[in-house]
Amino acid sequence: MRIFLDTANLEELKKAAAWGIVDGVTTNPSLIAKEGKPIEEQVRAICDIIDGDISAEVVSTEFKAMVEEGRKLSKIHKNIIVKLPLIRDGVQACKLLQGEGIRTNVTLCFQAGQGLLVAKAGAYIVSPFVGRIDDMGAEGMILIQDLVQIYRNYGYKTQILAASLRSTNHVIQAAKAGAHIGTLPFKTLDSLFNHPLTEKGLDAFLKDYAKVFGNK
Ligand code: G3P
Repeated sequence: MRIFLDTANLEELKKAAAWGIVDGVTTNPSLIAKEGKPIEEQVRAICDIIDGDISAEVVSTEFKAMVEEGRKLSKIHKNIIVKLPLIRDGVQACKLLQGEGIRTNVTLCFQAGQGLLVAKAGAYIVSPFVGRIDDMGAEGMILIQDLVQIYRNYGYKTQILAASLRSTNHVIQAAKAGAHIGTLPFKTLDSLFNHPLTEKGLDAFLKDYAKVFGNK
C-alpha cells in the first residue's frame, strides 16, 4: 500500500519525508486554508518536499470552471493530481481531464455506487472517507472492502485511496482490505511507529549491552 500524508503543513511534510516512507500527499481546501497561503504557492512548496503524487483540489463546483481550474492546477508541477468533488459536474470534469492526460482524484466518496461512477469516468484515484462514515455510526471500512471487490470484478484501473484514516487500526484494516493507497494525517503516521514492546525490548537490549561493554 502506498502511504500518502494528508496535510498541507510543510513542517510535518519535511519531518515525514526524512523517514523515507511517504509516497505522496493529499490536500483539500480546508487543509490549504489552515496554512494561510494561496493554493498554487503552498502546493509548489509541497512538490519541492515530496517527490510523488500531490493532490490539489479545485474549489469550483461547475463543470467548465472545474475543468479550467484543474488545467491550471495541473500546470504547477508534473506530480499534481487534480482533486475533484464527487458531484455530477466533478465526474464529468474527471472524464474530460483524464482524456487530456491530466490525472484526477475524485473525492468525498461515501458509497460504493458513487465509486462505480468514478471508475467508469476513468479517474486515476477515488477517495472514500472511512472516518467520516464511522462518525455517522456506520462501518467505514466496508466501503473500502466493497470498492476493492467491485473494481476487481471489472478490472477498473482507478486506485482506491482510503482517506479519513484516523487510527492505526484504520490503516491496518485498509491495507488488509486491499486499498492501493492510504492517506494519513501526520499524527496517525507517527503513531504507526509506536509499540510499547518495541520500546521495552530496545531498552533491555541496550541495558544488557551496556552492562558488559559500558555506555557508548
Ligand atoms: O483529506 C480528506 C480526508 O482524509 C479528511 O479526513 O479526518 O477530516 O475526515 P477527516
